[in-house]
Amino acid sequence: METAIRRDMILHVEVVDLLNHQIMMEQRASSKYLAMASWCDQRELRNSAKYFYSQAEEERSHMMKIFKFVNDNGGSALSPTVTEVSHEYDSLKGIFEASLDAEIEVTQAIHNVFKKARQVGDFTSEVFLQWFVTEQAEEEEKVRDILDMIDLMGDFPLKMIDERIPTE
Ligand code: FEO
Repeated sequence: METAIRRDMILHVEVVDLLNHQIMMEQRASSKYLAMASWCDQRELRNSAKYFYSQAEEERSHMMKIFKFVNDNGGSALSPTVTEVSHEYDSLKGIFEASLDAEIEVTQAIHNVFKKARQVGDFTSEVFLQWFVTEQAEEEEKVRDILDMIDLMGDFPLKMIDERIPTE
């Protein structure tokens, strides 16, 4: 049955495997952001908490976008398992640094699928993934801007730094 579905699909099998890996990466990013939101919420860092809740939802929407794409094009999307999400952070800056690390990891994974799609001539996936390539560049820039702001504010009280975290 699985072979029959795969024979008829427009996507390349190796790309589908990487897309399923990407589904897991996006869900993991969502779970990490939820843990970060919780840390901020517990410390009354309201803007930061709002920022991370919103990021968690955004990553889930990325996961769903890929999930639907795989199923809509004859592949089999796999519901992702996410383990080992850390809830331990020592500072607000540390959280945003971890967030940048997570985004860089996702960017690398997206580039990896994109490269494979191009290499095997899976144009459907390549075109679909272009949106994610652009999105990741914007996401990384957003976190880098926040880290620059945190560095500039130096020893200002945490609440004042939190007030400058964008919530949109
Ligand atoms: Fe969907 Fe920011 O990774």
